Amino acid sequence: MSGRFLFPADFVWGAATSAYQIEGSPLADGAGPSIWQRFAHTPGMMANGDHGDVACDHYRRYRDDVKLMQALGLTSYRFSINWSRVLPEGTGRINPAGLDFYSRLVDTLLEHGIAPNATLFHWDLPAALDDRGGWLNRDSAHWFAEYAEIMFKALDDRVPMWSTLNEPWVVTDGGYLHGTVAPGHRNTYEAPIAAHNLMRASGAAIQAYRAVGRQQIGVVFNIEPKYPASDRNEDVAAAARAHAYMNQQFADPALLGSYPPQLRECFGDAWPAFPASDFGLTRQKVDFVGVNYYTRAVVRHDPVQHPLRASPVRQPNRTYTETGWEVYEQGLVDTLTWFKDRYGDLPLYVTENGAAFYDPPVVEGDLLEDPLRVDYFRRHLKAVHAAMRAGVNVKGYYAWSLLDNLEWSLGFAKRFGLYHVDFATQKRTPKASARFYADVIASDGACL
Ligand code: NOJ
Repeated sequence: MSGRFLFPADFVWGAATSAYQIEGSPLADGAGPSIWQRFAHTPGMMANGDHGDVACDHYRRYRDDVKLMQALGLTSYRFSINWSRVLPEGTGRINPAGLDFYSRLVDTLLEHGIAPNATLFHWDLPAALDDRGGWLNRDSAHWFAEYAEIMFKALDDRVPMWSTLNEPWVVTDGGYLHGTVAPGHRNTYEAPIAAHNLMRASGAAIQAYRAVGRQQIGVVFNIEPKYPASDRNEDVAAAARAHAYMNQQFADPALLGSYPPQLRECFGDAWPAFPASDFGLTRQKVDFVGVNYYTRAVVRHDPVQHPLRASPVRQPNRTYTETGWEVYEQGLVDTLTWFKDRYGDLPLYVTENGAAFYDPPVVEGDLLEDPLRVDYFRRHLKAVHAAMRAGVNVKGYYAWSLLDNLEWSLGFAKRFGLYHVDFATQKRTPKASARFYADVIASDGACL
C-alpha cells in the first residue's frame, strides 16, 4: 500500500476559505457593505438567522489561524479578498486599512512558509455597485479590472497565485436565477447577462494582470459532472443541457471564446445576442484553472423544470453529505480528464474539495472524530492521483475548508472544516480529518 499514492515533491497542498465566510467584522476600519452583508441581514434569507458579522472572527484572529495552517503542513492557503474592504464604494476611493489587512495576512503566511493564493471575487460584491446594477451593468468589467489592478499593484510582489472569480455559476444560478444567494434575484432574463458580464470582468482583470503582474493568474470553476439517468435520448439530452449550463457556460467563453449551443435551447428568448467582439475579452490566456469539485448529478428529463428541463435523481445505497451531495470520487477523475480533453493541457488545481458531515460535540481535550470526512478526503485524494496517472496535469489540491464557517444561506450548521469552530467561544479544535490531512501532506500521499 505504502508508496502507491506518492504525489510529486512540488505538489501544492492547501486549504481554502473565503472572506465573508470566515472574516467577521465586515464593516470594520472603514469597509463598505457588500451584497452579502445586506442579504444576510434580510429576514428570511439565512438559515437560523445566521450572518457573517463575527463568523470565525478571522479578521482579528488571522495570526492564530495561520498557525493552524502551519500545523497541517500546508504549502499554500487559498483565501479571498473582500472588495468592499479595499474600495468601500466599489470604485474610486481606496480604504488603506482594508488593503493593510490583506497585506498583513500575506506577510504572515509568508513568514510561516505558506504561499498565498488570492481570489479577487468570492461573491461579496460591494453593495454600492449592486446599486448601480451589479453584474447586470456592462461597466462591471471595468469596475472589477480597476479593483483587480489595485490588488495586483499592492500584493503581486508577494502573492504568487491569483484567481479572478470563484464559481461564477453559483453567483448567477443562485443570485440571479433562483434567489437563494445574494443579491437574491429570481429572473431568467438576468442570469445569462450577469454570467456574461462576470466573464467579461474576469477577462478584463486578466488583461490588467498582464500589464502589471509578474506571477500567475487563473479562474476557478465549480464542475459537477452530469450523467444521464438512463440511455434514453431524452435523458441523455437532459444531462447534456445540465452539463452545458453548469460546467461550460463559464469555461467555454473563458477558454474557447464561445457558448455551447444548449444554452440557447434552455434559455430561449432570455438568451441575449451577445456582441461577437465580447469574446475577445472573455477569452484570455490563463496560467492555470482551478476546479472546485464536490459531487456529481445523475439527471433525467423533466419538462416542468425551468429552464433546464432536467432534474437530479437520487441514487439508492449511496452516501450523501449533510448538504445532500452524493459522495462520488470517480466524478473527480472524470471531471479532470474531461477538462483536459475539452480545454487542452492546462495546469489544473483542485481549488476546493470537501464535505459537510454531522460532527459530534467536542469533548474537552479530545480530538473530534469525523470518520466520514476522513473517508471523503481519502477517496478524493486517490481520485486526484488517478487523474494524474491518466495524464492530467494537476498541480495541487486545496481542502475545503480550513475552518467550519458560514455556509452562505445554509448558515453555520453545515460544517466543512478540518478544524471545528465553537462559534460561541471561537475555540478551534482539530478534527481527525486535520490529522489525516497532515499525515497525507507529510508523506506526499504515501499514507493514502
Ligand atoms: C463552493 C464555494 O466556493 C464555497 O464558498 C462553499 O462554502 C463550498 N463550495 C461548499 O459549499
